[in-house]
This record gives sequence, structure tokens and C-alpha cells, in this order.
Amino acid sequence: MAMFPTGRMRRLRQTANLRKMLRETMPSVDDFVFPVFVVPGKGIKKEISSMPGCFHHSVDTLTEELKEAASLGIRAAILFGLPESKDETGSGAYDEKGIIPTAVGAIKKAVPELTVITDVCLCEYTSHGHCGVVQGNTVDNDKTLELLSRAALVYAKAGADMIAPSDMMDGRVGSIRKTLDENGFSNLPIMSYAAKYASAFYGPFREAAQSAPQFGDRRSYQMDPPNWREAMREMEEDIEEGADIIMVKPALAYLDILQRARQAFSCPLAAYNVSGEYSMVKAAVKNGWLDEKQIVLEILTAIKRAGADIILTYHAKDAARWLKSSQ
Ligand code: PBG
Repeated sequence: MAMFPTGRMRRLRQTANLRKMLRETMPSVDDFVFPVFVVPGKGIKKEISSMPGCFHHSVDTLTEELKEAASLGIRAAILFGLPESKDETGSGAYDEKGIIPTAVGAIKKAVPELTVITDVCLCEYTSHGHCGVVQGNTVDNDKTLELLSRAALVYAKAGADMIAPSDMMDGRVGSIRKTLDENGFSNLPIMSYAAKYASAFYGPFREAAQSAPQFGDRRSYQMDPPNWREAMREMEEDIEEGADIIMVKPALAYLDILQRARQAFSCPLAAYNVSGEYSMVKAAVKNGWLDEKQIVLEILTAIKRAGADIILTYHAKDAARWLKSSQ
């Protein structure tokens, strides 16, 4: 490359046309997965106070919300369910008549073009709020696997297009893959929350999912934030167990993990732009401190630049609109 003054980096930044032509990365509506919360009842659309612009929906209003999302070009949604009641073993997660199978059925009917991904975890369904079965003071890994696999199969039978285990138990991808394969769902993809950190960025979600642990925390199963080599092992393990897509979560404080994963693995990568990342932006925008459109598109571009193929984001609908109008 020619050095200054023969070379001048600013030459190619002079006009909007040049900048647009030479843009290396652009998030696209095709990349987005829209996370939504479904609750029992009818006619409910209640804003989640910790996540302005996100709602608790009953199945009927959720299908309307997702019709709108699909009309904006969004291709996929991921569902989080709140059960009628919670118990020790999270039985609402694998009840065939539970909130998620009911929602999946209704969505596939009302918005057939939408890809429906179901999060698989017990924490929204357990009375103690942990992601698995509690035995004494610990979450029992192997006992939990069976329940997660049952939940995955129930969602598969209801018509889910993809299964996304988020619990961080060891061996859950292999266990779910085996159960799906044995029951005629060998073509159903698994997107695993492979490198999922024990993060304070999930704070607002726990209000949304009413899933804050009633004792202790999730540090004995979710990853320790300082570690990156451990993340590589988690991702490698999930790929070997049969994950089709691996996820890094949260996104923004973990873009280094995403980039390392992009360099190390050839499988598709997802990044979860989590609730805390969303709500920080919303709070700053509300105070007039940040420009929402610019900050959100910059964030999504950064996640994409770090290596994500898929971005789970609560900004999906707004970003879809903004990307459309900037074309
Ligand atoms: C369930 C789950 C969580 C999130 C996704 N799936 C919460 C948690 O692990 O505590 C967080 C999503 C977000 O913060 O947006 N295990």
C-alpha cells in the first residue's frame, strides 16, 4: 500500500456512494431472529417494564405480532414461554398442552412462512428458577438431560422448525439429538447456546421470563466470563454432539469469543444481543443520550463484523424497518 502523501485513506471516504460501495459488512433482515415471550390467557399484550418495546403476549396477540414481523421480512422468531404454574421439575416445559406447543401450533397456522425456533430450558418453568432439576443445593446434570430431551421432542411434535437448548447442562446437545433422531426428527436442526456466560446482562430477561433463581446463581452451569479457552471447548463439544449452529451469548462484551469461533469453526454462528444490551440502549435513548437508529445499526453491524451469521435481537422489527428505509 502506498504511504502518505501518495496514499490517502480519506480518498475513499469522501462520498456516501463510495462509502456504501466499499462497505465490508452490512447486517441484513435475513440475519435476524426475533425473541418473543408468550404467556397463558387471551388478548394480552403487556409491556415488560425492564424491556421497553417488548411485550408479554398471549398466543392470539403473539400471532399478530409475528405476522407484522414477517411482513417486515423477518424470517425467524425464538419463543420463550411462561407457564400457568411452576413446579420443582419444570413440568410446564414438556407438557404437550403447555404454552410453547400451543403457541407453535398457532404460529405455524397463522404465519406459516415464519421459522419457529423454540428455546429449550427449564428455568422459566421451575419454582426455584434454576435451569435444571435441583438435588440438595446443586442442579443435577444427568437427571436434567432427560427432561430437556422430552421438552425438545414435545416442541418438535408441535411443529417447531429448530430447537435451541439454552440450559448449559453437559451432554444436552447429544441427548436431544439422539431423542429427536429416534423419533423421526433427524432433519430438525439444533442451535445450541454453546458459549453461554453467567452474565449480568440477562437481568432484564429474568423479569421478562420471571425466572430469577430463588437461591444461589447460575455460575455452576453457565460459563465464567473471564474464560475464552473454555468457550472454545464448549463450542467444540457441542459441534461434536451434533449442534448445527452454535451460539455465543451475550454478544457485545463477547465479540472476541465470536471472532475466535469464526476463525476456528466452519459451522454457522449465532450471537445473542441479550436483554441487558437492549435495555441499556433503550434507557439511554429515552434520556436523549443516544440516537436509537444509529446506535442499533452500529451494534448489529459490529456483531456481524465479528463473525455472526445469525443475530438474535429484540431490536429486530425496528432494525428491519431502518434497513429497508436506508436502501
Ligand atoms: C434461559 C435463557 C436466558 C436467556 C435466554 N435463555 C436467561 C438466563 O440464562 O438466565 C437470556 C436472554 C436475554 O437476556 O435476553 N436459560
